Amino acid sequence: MELGREYWNQRWLEQQTGWDIGSASAPLTDFALHLNNRSLRILIPGAGNAWEAEFLFRHGFTHVHVLDIAPQAIAAFQTRVPDFPAAQLINGDFFAHTGHYDLILEQTFFCALHPSLRKAYVQKMHSLLAPGGTLAGVLFDAGFEGGPPFGGSAAEYRSLFEPYFELHTLETARNSIQPRAGREVFIRFTPRANVSPVN
Ligand SMILES: C[S@@+](CC[C@H](N)C(=O)[O-])C[C@H]1O[C@@H](n2cnc3c(N)ncnc32)[C@H](O)[C@@H]1O
Repeated sequence: MELGREYWNQRWLEQQTGWDIGSASAPLTDFALHLNNRSLRILIPGAGNAWEAEFLFRHGFTHVHVLDIAPQAIAAFQTRVPDFPAAQLINGDFFAHTGHYDLILEQTFFCALHPSLRKAYVQKMHSLLAPGGTLAGVLFDAGFEGGPPFGGSAAEYRSLFEPYFELHTLETARNSIQPRAGREVFIRFTPRANVSPVN
């Protein structure tokens, strides 16, 4: 089964969105609210309902970008938040996306991708971040039957990200929603300089 545009859009159309927590995720928004610069270029890839994007937009962040491969997800967001800048709503594939961001927020996007794409994810994140930028958010520290979601562990993330990023924080998240408490790690990584470009 290919986890591409058709697969994800179908899930949106059938409302099979069990990952959706229905509100902005505290690990992500608490982190962002501590940032003084409301003009930071922020990307939320695999954003889904993008509750965090709406929250940050309402809290004065002016350059939040929502990216999702499923047209239905983007359309639903546009309907829910009609005053969100249309140019910052992107229907597309993360791996084909280009740009430079100061902050990229992760939540249940990494786990939605087939594990064979993990190295490509890390390299793409590195290429999308401006020097001094940050990748922050949560990753599951848990295993799952089948997938998506595909699980992982802190040890795996360390070896995957370390060649490309400085790992400032990789620890059990303190403000997870109850069903995920103790089962996800908060990450704050910054891209290393002098990493060879990726083809
Ligand atoms: C598990 S959902 C998570 C949504 C959201 N982050 C959340 O926490 O509610 C994964 C999302 O990633 C999107 N997605 C999957 N593969 C993608 C890709 N290659 N590029 C962009 N979005 C993708 C799906 O359409 C889906 O909305």
